[in-house]
Amino acid sequence: MSRLIVVSNRVSPTQAQGASSQGGLAMAISAALREYGGIWFGWSGQAAPAFTGTIAMQKVDGVTVATTDLDDQDIQEYYNGYANRTLWPLFHYRIDLTAYDRSYGAGYARVNGRLAETLHPLIEPDDLVWVQDYHLIPMGRELRERGAANAMGFFLHIPWPARELLVTLPRHRDLVEAMFHYDVVGFQTAEWCDAFKAYVLHEAGGTILPDGRLSAFGRTVRAEAFPIGIDAQGFRHLCDTPGGQASFQRMVESKAGRRMLIGVDRLDYSKGLEERFLAFERLLQDHPSLRREVFMLQISTHSREDVPEYQEIASRLDALSGRINGAMAEMDWVPIRNVHRLHTREELAGLYRAADVALVTPLRDGMNLVAKEFVAAQDEADPGVLVLSRFAGAAAQMREALIVNPFAREDVADAIKRALGMPLEERQRRWRALMDGVETDDLMAWRDSFVHGLQQARDAGRQTG
Ligand code: G6P
Repeated sequence: MSRLIVVSNRVSPTQAQGASSQGGLAMAISAALREYGGIWFGWSGQAAPAFTGTIAMQKVDGVTVATTDLDDQDIQEYYNGYANRTLWPLFHYRIDLTAYDRSYGAGYARVNGRLAETLHPLIEPDDLVWVQDYHLIPMGRELRERGAANAMGFFLHIPWPARELLVTLPRHRDLVEAMFHYDVVGFQTAEWCDAFKAYVLHEAGGTILPDGRLSAFGRTVRAEAFPIGIDAQGFRHLCDTPGGQASFQRMVESKAGRRMLIGVDRLDYSKGLEERFLAFERLLQDHPSLRREVFMLQISTHSREDVPEYQEIASRLDALSGRINGAMAEMDWVPIRNVHRLHTREELAGLYRAADVALVTPLRDGMNLVAKEFVAAQDEADPGVLVLSRFAGAAAQMREALIVNPFAREDVADAIKRALGMPLEERQRRWRALMDGVETDDLMAWRDSFVHGLQQARDAGRQTG
């Protein structure tokens, strides 16, 4: 069996169902590598005085991990710059926040080249190479230039932007051309995949071949949606661990008979956190009888703190929750519990189970696995209700959630009201349908379908090559 080489910016292997605070992506990659063997390669997260390409190899819980340090300029221009000040906002439809700085583009190209140079000697001819996310779009091209003829795939965890937005990026053609050095490119939803195709057809003069592959730039690629899932049973079981039960109990006591809305997000402007707080404020203004009856627990973990836009959203959010709490709180009730502390996955599972309503209301999101984790953690005898943004990739699969437009405060406030009043029978019916989807389209299905696509590419290459 071919080994799998996974390449991603962050390399953080986790135990299958361990006491980790890592998110879904890390869980997904670790599970894939445990199954297929191989190497997980990427940046160590550390800065070195100068880039040397030295590889640190270690085995973590059955996963071989190879990392290398970057230098300060690399981190500044590639990670903080092009990845998180250019591509992230642009791909999340925020051209107002998108910074186009030539040094960022140069840093992005340089780091992709450096990482490819470091990784290339570790790759064996039969390996399948699977590159993850927007930090590393040119990685396939860089590896090909160094002679790698392996089957290679790329999966984008975030949205692909509409072509009208993408063309605001200097050298957008070059970025799209890089996608054509893979055999398979995967997107979270058909919508993002269609946006990619629209660029290829209408901007790059490409065509769709009879077998469905795209042809442009003198190359072909298979582009498809592979919606990522979670380890549904594994996550559900976290509720029964001591950590899960402890956080559930602690929360039930702290609720003191009140209803709880929960939000769990990386602190990012794409998550619609200010809009969520304002929608909750609107709900309490329109329905004063709900005051003291309901509160929101918002867990937002700090993220990308060297990037100015993240510092700004963090302070704006604290100011907003402070204003709402100051105006509305009573001596024994605070409307918003605004928490930044990182929680373990067990703690989160317990909190989801204790919650009555989950607010997953990003303004734009590739998938959003919190929506799926919340569903997996529910008690089927008394399940909570998921309020989900139509702009999260998850909305394409989770139609039985209450789907909202997060830009419309009244819309979200109405959905919360409806969720709080939803009869048990309807909650159970919606939850069952959602849970069936979460269990069927799970992490293993995602991994297997992508790897299967890579295997097909490898076999096709053998036939022709
Ligand atoms: C998103 C991206 C991931 C990224 C994660 C955390 O989920 O798709 O690639 O790792 O955010 O962001 P960070 O910048 O902390 O790695």
